[in-house]
Amino acid sequence: MSTLFRTKSLDLLQRDADLRGEGGAGHLKRALGPIDLISLGIGAIIGTGIFAVIGTAAAGGADHVGAGPGVALSFIITAVACGFCALCYAEFAALVPISGSAYTYSYATLGELIAWIIGWDLIIEYAVGNVAVAIAWAAYFHQLFEGLGVHIPAWLSVDYRSAHQAANADGAVDPILALQYEAWIDHPTVAGIPIIFNFLAFAIVGAVTWLLVIGIKESARANNVMVVLKVLILLFFIGVGAMYVKPEHWRPFMPNGFAGVWTGASLIFFAFIGFDAISTAAEECRNPGRDLPIGIIGSLIICTVIYGATAMVLTGVEPWQNLGVADPLASVFAKLGLNWAAGIVALGAVLSMTAVLLVFQLGQPRIFFAMSRDGLLPKYFAKVHPRYQTPHVTTIWTGVVVALLSGIANINEIVELTNIGTLFAFVLVCAGVIILRYTDPDRPRVFRTPFVPVVPLLGMAMCFYLMLGLPRVTWIRFGAWLLAGLILYFCYGYWHSRLRKP
Ligand code: ALA
Repeated sequence: MSTLFRTKSLDLLQRDADLRGEGGAGHLKRALGPIDLISLGIGAIIGTGIFAVIGTAAAGGADHVGAGPGVALSFIITAVACGFCALCYAEFAALVPISGSAYTYSYATLGELIAWIIGWDLIIEYAVGNVAVAIAWAAYFHQLFEGLGVHIPAWLSVDYRSAHQAANADGAVDPILALQYEAWIDHPTVAGIPIIFNFLAFAIVGAVTWLLVIGIKESARANNVMVVLKVLILLFFIGVGAMYVKPEHWRPFMPNGFAGVWTGASLIFFAFIGFDAISTAAEECRNPGRDLPIGIIGSLIICTVIYGATAMVLTGVEPWQNLGVADPLASVFAKLGLNWAAGIVALGAVLSMTAVLLVFQLGQPRIFFAMSRDGLLPKYFAKVHPRYQTPHVTTIWTGVVVALLSGIANINEIVELTNIGTLFAFVLVCAGVIILRYTDPDRPRVFRTPFVPVVPLLGMAMCFYLMLGLPRVTWIRFGAWLLAGLILYFCYGYWHSRLRKP
């Protein structure tokens, strides 16, 4: 029993990181500074959530029980929850500045079994989350080219199942389902098999994967450029939109009461996922103890301010009931006749989501890399490219799986699954901070979470509360995923763990 909860000591973790000197077999290049990290954070945070999920959160799904203008409050609730968790992540990330994020922290504190569960769970956050981002990217990309007069066939831009659903629903008249319906009407068939595949989503994941195999510094540079652009474009949305706000659209502020705001918060949580992704690059930071907390907390604050303003402007410009479209920020401008502004926003959305894809495709392989180095996954996954010094094997595998799933999956289901998985990981990280304060109180902490255990406990409670706002079927899917992970652990990781060896 005790072997299940064997911990990897912090000393061993730190030695592992130090031992792999320049050119060593398992070494990653130390190239990132504080600005790179804030930028990496904003790159992961601003994306599908603010450009797409905000519409569903405000207007509600099929049941129309949305947050309404109260979506701004949903953002604040979620930001507070993330803030508590960010303070916990920062302490851990600075203490264990080793690639692998929450997986690594929990290995040092909560033991191998919990670490494995978190590592397995983080696949939902990073890889599954990226599937949602790629699908939303494809929708905006399609829209952007439509605006430029270039028609990309709908059957190359959506998944088969949504096209089928649109055909059964009133897809012919519902503007939200127009693209899916078109795919159903126009798709070709090969040997009697209907061809409907989200090739756009598939292709962008392929391109991002290639960039990441080439090298982290190069990718960080590409990310920095995109981050500046997307912040400018959201400020552009706020500035132009503010001139068209009608305050009567804000009344009533919570048309579906607090229940709507709560469900909205559970969905919009997706918009904040990403500040923690910074910690996966810990081994590639020049000065992790100082820079990681700056990166995590700084990027969270910047994004919260921008999101709150965006939510107020969006719900002030257009009645909340009309916001349940795939591209709400662009479509409200198009409706005002500001097609040029709609085009700029659509371009911004495409760029933002590309940046998100980049950071998450960067994080996932590094978690696999850490798990494989610990023996919980086969050695094969810990290979580092001799020339580029990137974990190319895991990067390519992640790319292949995410790309294929992006071609066939439904975005709403994927967003909900991503949220539940990520919230669960946050709960465990908060717990880890409390536990480590008791089990290892004297270890010097470069960054200390304030008011322990109050802050971590509040983080845990709020994340759990947000999890409760997600549908039952999401809980069942999540349970099945964890069960599959446990089976895998007892078949492989338990027996091959490096901690088993003397
Ligand atoms: N926060 C990221 C996004 O909204 C995942 O795209």
